[in-house]
Amino acid sequence: MKKYTHLILVGVILILTALLAGVLIFLKSQPPQPRAFQPIVEVAPFEPDSAVWGENFPNQYSSMLLTAENRADTEYGGSSGFSHLERDPRQVILFAGYPFSWEYNDDRGHAYALADVEATARVTASTHATCYSCKSSNNPALWAEMGREGYDALLFSEIAPRMEYSIGCANCHEAGTMRLIVTNPSLETAFEAQGIDWRNFSRQEMRTVVCANCHVEYYMVGEDKILTFPWANGTRIDQIIAYYDEIGFADWTYPGTGTPMLKAQHPEFEFFTAGSTHYEAGVACADCHMPYVRDGAAKYSSHNIHSPLFDPMAACGQCHTDVDYVVERVNVIQDQVFAAKIAAEDALIDAITALSVAAADPRADPVLLEQARRLHRRAQFMWDFVSAENSMGFHNPEYALSILTEVTNLARQAQMLAAQATGNLDLLQTGVYYTIDPPPAPASPP
Ligand code: HEC
Ligand code: HEC
Ligand code: HEC
Ligand code: HEC
Repeated sequence: MKKYTHLILVGVILILTALLAGVLIFLKSQPPQPRAFQPIVEVAPFEPDSAVWGENFPNQYSSMLLTAENRADTEYGGSSGFSHLERDPRQVILFAGYPFSWEYNDDRGHAYALADVEATARVTASTHATCYSCKSSNNPALWAEMGREGYDALLFSEIAPRMEYSIGCANCHEAGTMRLIVTNPSLETAFEAQGIDWRNFSRQEMRTVVCANCHVEYYMVGEDKILTFPWANGTRIDQIIAYYDEIGFADWTYPGTGTPMLKAQHPEFEFFTAGSTHYEAGVACADCHMPYVRDGAAKYSSHNIHSPLFDPMAACGQCHTDVDYVVERVNVIQDQVFAAKIAAEDALIDAITALSVAAADPRADPVLLEQARRLHRRAQFMWDFVSAENSMGFHNPEYALSILTEVTNLARQAQMLAAQATGNLDLLQTGVYYTIDPPPAPASPP
């Protein structure tokens, strides 16, 4: 009996040893599982709370939270949210009759998007929910629930209680796969109008396209204020103006001159992708604004999105060996663009001054006046396209300078037409802005 027990025991031990060895060999031969693919929590589709996603991806989450800490400014950008109207009072005149003459602050970090839209004086009782479209990670779930049309038809105040979080993971990623995706239905529609299916974009292209969910020119269509990108003809400035002209769209009528005006929003995507050196070289928004950083052995994309000038070694140093040199180039480019922008603003103000006098003159030639208004509309939108773009020209320096040169030319032509329409040579006065004392202060909402 004893012998048999021994034999059985030895047999069992041998079998167990073989099994254990097999399991160990199997485990050893498996590919290493990156942390990212072992979710600690299951993230529901469109999950608005970034903290839930953050359980799985603590580095991306904690770096995203840092966008709330950025307060410093650079020469032309930064995160303090300074007032453009106070820095450059010309813009009070240029936006007269429109809410941007009441308040116009510089962009801040993504963590502030929701608080800033709720605090702005530009939101009034009749403002639609549309204005929340680029401000909150609650949106993808709300769009899935009520559709773009249902969402935009609501008033700002009606949807406000559903807004809990500022921009977060759900604005850029698909839960589960973590793919970068188009989350804004208006971007999807805008690509469709151009015959583009964004699902065919490469990963590197999506590192730019994901920002186009928000950093684009847009307008609102009809009573229900449907968010729409004016891209049916293409995304170059001439194609956008042609689009607005074809549909006869205007954001507001300029007081005094009677010009049907267009307001540009923040066309970083259209501006950067219009043949800039970096875009043509295959560089993406995320390369400069979300550079890879290290946490011990782990490499991840910094989600602390801000001006790359705060850490050019991380943002530019991955590709450029001489970082001091390229930062100096940024300064030179921005100073040039700024000077050209101010010259364009001075020309626009001279044109507006002349056109206001001419429009009030009953003997003025209506045909010439109408031509002057068309030039004013076009010139000011082109100026705004560069001015409202947040890089002071850096994203595409040649494009910025060529647009601003054209603005000054068109604005001076508008001024001359106003003088010609009335025969009043006083309307050819230049530098009107410098005679205004004290400089214009932000207007109060009516
Ligand atoms: C080659 C690097 C580079 C690329 C690519 C790039 N940017 Fe920038 N971006 C910059 C620099 C430099 C500035 C100027 C920052 C400043 O003036 O402080 C800037 C400024 C900005 C700002 C304003 C920042 C602030 O502090 O106010 C925004 C918004 C922005 N970029 C968005 C984008 C988007 C969206 C894309 C892609 C469509 C993009 N950028 C592509 C380098 C880049
Ligand atoms: C869901 C909409 C949305 C998406 C997607 C988005 N942004 Fe923004 N971004 C905003 C808004 C809104 C602001 C301004 C927030 C404010 O001023 O309160 C902003 C601000 C910024 C700023 C200024 C930060 C600062 O501190 O001054 C930069 C830079 C920027 N975004 C870059 C990007 C880049 C690069 C991408 C793509 C990787 C991107 N954004 C994607 C909506 C978005
Ligand atoms: C404004 C858009 C945006 C937001 C918001 C955002 N991400 Fe990302 N995320 C990106 C981009 C762009 C990349 C680079 C993707 C690539 O290279 O394919 C990225 C990459 C990642 C990656 C891949 C690994 C890496 O670091 O490159 C993970 C994981 C990730 N994000 C998690 C998150 C989480 C979690 C949140 C919310 C806390 C979040 N992201 C919010 C744009 C965003
Ligand atoms: C992913 C790579 C990459 C990153 C990141 C990058 N660059 Fe570049 N940059 C390029 C390439 C490629 C060119 C094209 C010229 C060349 O081959 O040197 C270029 C060209 C330039 C030029 C010359 C542009 C011209 O029109 O002649 C400047 C200035 C510049 N970069 C500044 C910067 C700054 C500032 C940053 C950081 C904010 C930056 N770059 C980040 C790849 C990059």
